[in-house]
Amino acid sequence: MNKTVLEVTHIQKVYGKKGEKQHEALKDISFDIQEGEFVGIMGPSGSGKTTLLNILSALDSPTNGDIKISGATLNGLKESQLSDFRAKNIGFIFQDFNLLENLTMQQNIGLPLSLQGVSASKTKKKVKEIAKVLDIERILGSYPTEVSGGQKQRVAAARALVHNPNLLLGDEPTGALDSKNAKNLLEALRGLNEDYKTTILLVTHDAVSASYCKRILFIQDGLIYRELHRRGTQQEFYQEILAVLAGLEIDPESLV
Ligand SMILES: Nc1ncnc2c1ncn2[C@@H]1O[C@H](COP(=O)(O)OP(=O)(O)OP(=O)(O)O)[C@@H](O)[C@H]1O
Ligand SMILES: [Mg+2]
Repeated sequence: MNKTVLEVTHIQKVYGKKGEKQHEALKDISFDIQEGEFVGIMGPSGSGKTTLLNILSALDSPTNGDIKISGATLNGLKESQLSDFRAKNIGFIFQDFNLLENLTMQQNIGLPLSLQGVSASKTKKKVKEIAKVLDIERILGSYPTEVSGGQKQRVAAARALVHNPNLLLGDEPTGALDSKNAKNLLEALRGLNEDYKTTILLVTHDAVSASYCKRILFIQDGLIYRELHRRGTQQEFYQEILAVLAGLEIDPESLV
């Protein structure tokens, strides 16, 4: 039976205080994600993608609406409970890696476990396991300034996954990468999704990155206006995504 990892119900987000200049960044967003899904969120600049991810990762709170992650409601939790919840349940990959420059890759990846009080030997073992999956074992002793952007982002992915989160979130994780490194990261994420059933939600501008997902939610002006499920090959899905982005609906059957 499918397990629901994320339930988003009628989320609204208004920036700015009452009486001041206000902006409704999210109007009314509802969707679910099941365990093992690989979902993309696409939309123009300013459509509310980062706002949505920040709310899903409990870095920010909605003005209205409910969020449940693995059955737990985030509403009403105190800041300390939220950060605890985030540390246990969510992994986050940022566009600009967000690695700590004065820590080695080994220490960067292990940080979420060290912060939870996991023993050094157990942390080392877990870091080794995830580093193998992401093919970064050879650079574990290096510092962030000593490796490429693509390697840094795979380290960031390893850090986001080392504590086995229920949900991996990424805000434009390929945004700072060239196309070869972007492809490497996306293939690693696809591998994690297929082999380990990691549930992934990515925000992306880019149709190539989006074509690695199995479902895309298109958002505009704070509303989901279209949803696309991958049924055929990645190339066919890429063409369908481009068509939606261009505002041209096409019949997927015609792409064979
Ligand atoms: N802290 C804030 N205070 C006020 N308005 C904000 C704040 N953060 C974002 N906004 C506004 O909310 C809207 C949605 O912003 P958001 O960052 O979610 O867009 P986005 O879809 O991630 O865009 P991009 O693709 O450029 O990253 C924009 O109009 C933005 O100007
Ligand atoms: Mg953004």
